[in-house]
Amino acid sequence: MASATHFLLALLLLSFPYFFLQSSLFVSADQELIQKTCQGTKYPDLCISTIQYDPSSSTADKKGLAVIVLHNATATATATYMYLSNEGAKNGTSPEFQKVIKYCTDKYGYARNALDGSLQDMASDQYDDAALEASAAVEYPKSCYDEFTMRSGLTYPVELAQREKVLEHLCEVAVGILSLLS
Ligand SMILES: *[C@@H]1O[C@H](CO)[C@@H](O)[C@H](O)[C@H]1NC(C)=O
Ligand SMILES: *[C@@H]1O[C@H](CO)[C@@H](O)[C@H](O)[C@H]1NC(C)=O
Repeated sequence: MASATHFLLALLLLSFPYFFLQSSLFVSADQELIQKTCQGTKYPDLCISTIQYDPSSSTADKKGLAVIVLHNATATATATYMYLSNEGAKNGTSPEFQKVIKYCTDKYGYARNALDGSLQDMASDQYDDAALEASAAVEYPKSCYDEFTMRSGLTYPVELAQREKVLEHLCEVAVGILSLLS
């Protein structure tokens, strides 16, 4: 009898790791949703890394995943807006450069506002409107680039080029997930 009890006890203890295994299986089920959702977007790697960066992603549904990307895109647009504000405040650059930087600062401000609007649309489940706002947010950084390249003698800053790419790709990812929702 005693050895049977020990045996049961041992079984019980041995099964503990299974609880952890089980819970990691639940996590991998959510990873599956992330993988599947992101494969439906233009930039799956960026999509996955952005979503996994947010701890709340492990319990998010598809709508939640879109919101996570939109939040990141909004913060990214805001960060570039700040970067450009600082660039614009720098001395020693040509008035022409300053003018374009000012133009671009406004554009990134509009991009941030559009992404903010997109998040508000998400809050009221207006997925089509949210997608429109996110698509608009792609265009603003592009018009900054156009403004730079239209003016000969001005060099498009490498850092801005990198920031432009990331924001545009994030917006495209958001649009991609939103199209799976509507
Ligand atoms: C956006 O996600 C990236 C990971 O792709 C992360 O490095 C970055 O810090 C995030 N930005 C914000 C503002 O959360
Ligand atoms: C630019 O120059 C002005 C006038 O010399 C000065 O007041 C201002 O603090 C400078 N700005 C920066 C960012 O260095």
